[in-house]
Amino acid sequence: MSEAKRRTVLCPLAEIADGCSKGFALGAGAAQRELFVVRSNGRLYAYENSCPHTDGPLDWTPDQFLTVERDFIQCATHGALFRIETGECLDGPCLGQWLRAVRVVLEDGVVVLDD
Ligand code: FES
Repeated sequence: MSEAKRRTVLCPLAEIADGCSKGFALGAGAAQRELFVVRSNGRLYAYENSCPHTDGPLDWTPDQFLTVERDFIQCATHGALFRIETGECLDGPCLGQWLRAVRVVLEDGVVVLDD
């Protein structure tokens, strides 16, 4: 028997411009889960909002997860840089560690969490 998947509507794709990111907080209290989506070169990438260095959040202000040049994900706390496409840390105190990826899909112009 396969495990049932959870599908949660996150937002219309139009709310994430290419080269931008958006954070989401799902649930409440101890069960709250934070994640973010990056739209880059027409593709979507999503990760838990938790830096492998301290497990703290990555964003320095709401929906800001990328460098000024928008070429890497950057942790606001100590500046670690992560590859957008894979979540691998390329520079910083968690070098060689990875963001935890989550699966999102696009359905009729809407970004949906599919895990
Ligand atoms: S908490 Fe992210 S680099 Fe230290």
